[in-house]
Amino acid sequence: MILVTGAAGGLGTLIAERLADRDDTVLGTREPSRLETPLPVRRIDFDDPDTLVTGFQGVAVLLMISAGYGEDDTVIARHGTALDAAEQAGVRHVVYTSLTADGDHLPYALPHRWTERRLRRSAMDWTILRNGLYAELLARLAAPSEDGRITAPLGEGRLAAVARADLADAAARVVVDAGAHAGQVYELVGEQAVGGADLARAHGPHIAYEPETLARVRSRLAATGIEPFQVPMLVGTYSAIAAGFMSHTGGDLRQLLDRAPRPTHPVPDTLGRS
Ligand SMILES: NC(=O)c1ccc[n+]([C@@H]2O[C@H](COP(=O)([O-])OP(=O)(O)OC[C@H]3O[C@@H](n4cnc5c(N)ncnc54)[C@H](OP(=O)(O)O)[C@@H]3O)[C@@H](O)[C@H]2O)c1
Repeated sequence: MILVTGAAGGLGTLIAERLADRDDTVLGTREPSRLETPLPVRRIDFDDPDTLVTGFQGVAVLLMISAGYGEDDTVIARHGTALDAAEQAGVRHVVYTSLTADGDHLPYALPHRWTERRLRRSAMDWTILRNGLYAELLARLAAPSEDGRITAPLGEGRLAAVARADLADAAARVVVDAGAHAGQVYELVGEQAVGGADLARAHGPHIAYEPETLARVRSRLAATGIEPFQVPMLVGTYSAIAAGFMSHTGGDLRQLLDRAPRPTHPVPDTLGRS
C-alpha cells in the first residue's frame, strides 16, 4: 500500500489527484475532513505520534511530503518522529520531497539535509526528490505592484523555477514504481532560469523591473506581522537567487516526466496557503 502524507497541502493535493484512481493508495493529512477525494484518508500528524502508529499500518511505500514551515527544530522533530514511526510500522520504502542541492544556502535547507541523512541511515529503501523552488513561489515573491513595478530584490539573479504541477507528476510517477527508484536522488529543477527582468517582460510592456535592496524588504516583511522565522526564510530566498545560487538548470525532471517540463513564466500566484 502507498500512503501520501500532507495530502491537503498544495503539492499533496496535486499528487492525490494523480493517484485518485488507484486501489492501493491512501492519503494522510492532519485534518481529513478538509479532503474531497475518492481515496481512503487517514489522520496523519507528525506532531501527534499516536496518529502515526495507526496511520502507517500496512504501508509499504510512504510518500513523505516535508512538513511545512517552522523553525529548524520543529521540522526536524516532525520528520524524525515520522521516520521513527515508519520504521516501527515496517514501511519498506520512503520517497521524500526534499530541496534542490542549489538550495543549500537557503535558510530552510538544514531540516531537508537532516532528513536525507536520517533516511540514508535507516534500514528502509529511500528515494529523494530534491525539488527546486516553485514557479508559483517566484510569481508571489516577484509579483507586480498595482503601479506596474516588480521591486523584488533579485538583482540580476535568476531561478531555475519549476511548476508545482510537474513536481506532483514526478512524485506520482516515482511512488507507484518506487522500487525502480531506490537509492536515487533526483534534482528536480527547471530547464530555464527566470529573473526579475524576464518576469516583467512576460507580464507585458506596462511592467518594469526595479530591484530594491534586501534591507528594505526585510524591514517591510518584519512590519507585516508574519512569524519571526519567516522573515529570514523569505529574505534568504531572495538573497540566494540574487547571488546566483539558484540558476542551475537540469534534466532530471524531464527524465522522470518523460516529457518536457511545463513553462514556468509567467505563472499566476497559485501557491495557495503558505
Ligand atoms: N520548493 C518550493 O518552492 C517550496 C515552497 C513551499 C514549500 N515547500 C516545501 O514543500 C512542502 C510541500 O509544499 P506545499 O506547496 O504543499 O506546501 P503547503 O501547501 O504549505 O503545505 C504544507 C504541507 O506541510 C504538511 N504539514 C505541516 N505540518 C505537518 C505535520 N505536523 N504533520 C504532517 N504534515 C504536516 C501539510 O500537510 P496537511 O495540511 O495535509 O496535514 C502540507 O502538506 C512544504 O511543506 C514545504 O516543506 C517547497
